[in-house]
Amino acid sequence: MNAPAVAIDWNAVRADFPLLTREVHGKPLIYFDSANTGQKPEAVIAAVDDFYRRHNANVSRAVHALGTEATEAYEGARTKLAKFLNVRADELVLCSGTTFALNLVAYSWALPRLRPGDAIVLTRMEHHANIVPWQLVAQRTGATIKVAEIDELGQLDLPQLYSLLTPEVKLLALTHVSNVLGTVNPVREICREARKRGIVSLIDGSQAAPHRALDIAAIGCDFYAITGHKMNGPTGTGALWARREHLAQMPPFLGGGEMIKEVRFEGTVFNDAPHKFEAGTPNIAGFVGLGAAVDYLSALGMSHIEAREQALLDYATRALSEVPGLRIFGRAPEKAAVISFLVEGAHAHDLATLLDLEGVAIRSGHHCAHPLMHHFGVPATCRASLAYYNTFDEVDAFVAALTKVRTLLA
Ligand code: ALA
Repeated sequence: MNAPAVAIDWNAVRADFPLLTREVHGKPLIYFDSANTGQKPEAVIAAVDDFYRRHNANVSRAVHALGTEATEAYEGARTKLAKFLNVRADELVLCSGTTFALNLVAYSWALPRLRPGDAIVLTRMEHHANIVPWQLVAQRTGATIKVAEIDELGQLDLPQLYSLLTPEVKLLALTHVSNVLGTVNPVREICREARKRGIVSLIDGSQAAPHRALDIAAIGCDFYAITGHKMNGPTGTGALWARREHLAQMPPFLGGGEMIKEVRFEGTVFNDAPHKFEAGTPNIAGFVGLGAAVDYLSALGMSHIEAREQALLDYATRALSEVPGLRIFGRAPEKAAVISFLVEGAHAHDLATLLDLEGVAIRSGHHCAHPLMHHFGVPATCRASLAYYNTFDEVDAFVAALTKVRTLLA
């Protein structure tokens, strides 16, 4: 992470987010659930609004002016996103989000390839979208799943992970940043180890793309998935980046319009990638909004965002460590601004419900990561996930509210 080159007025940045000015239960909203979904700046809302008011048409079909404008806006978003991720635009499949992206790899890449005796390596800290598709593939192919474990700080046990990378392993799929622990995994090193052994690697970047400058080309993976709504873009947007050789070999996942060159009843000639994987009318307005979100994040600078969130994380971690009976899950030195915790004697949902009445929105539950909850022997945790638009005052108010509600439950 580079030190910020310019001072950013974070109060002015916060003012770009209309929703953050509202109250809930008569209290100012403190939104600490950005790992679940990010809030949207005015620029994103305006871009979606403008698309529907002035440019709405379907893409890649109509020769009329609106059709051309819509296509340019949609393809423009692909170009912006590709630049943001440092990949080629024609290797970027636009889709509804990480879940779709991972299932696309599961059904189009893994299902036709894997055989009985093959293995897939996952990690203990995956969320369900990076577990269940592989279980479905394993059931249908006879492949097995092996799991890389974590240490007491919530970091991957790298020697154990590398010991799993044996010749029968065909795929290593892991998250870049844990949605529960906040751990930032050393994906570059891990992908290098996988590649050395001829193993294809897939990175789930849903929690990384909103918080760090990404250079997918430098990571050296085979597949990288992102989701737009966590990057302050609209819901129902995301992308899969894949090496061109994989995209060329993978059969389509869904059939329909857009993904074809020619259709006869005798057979169909498919379009080239990435369009081969984009059947049907896409979420055009959503991608226009995601393009605006990428512009917004790029203008702020991901290194500034990372530094701001690191400062908020350090401040919140110190403050929470003072709360009696509070246990934090995940203390990796390389960590995103996600703090999972439990307070002795209080159920996670009760805490979250009482905090909501104080205006504080945190997530409680299993965070779509049952295997991680089993590892810790708890059914649920509370999770405060912060973003650059949060403030130090909000952290103070959150800790004060937590201290208050904790005594009600004790
Ligand atoms: N959206 C899920 C989360 O809250 C996965 O982390």
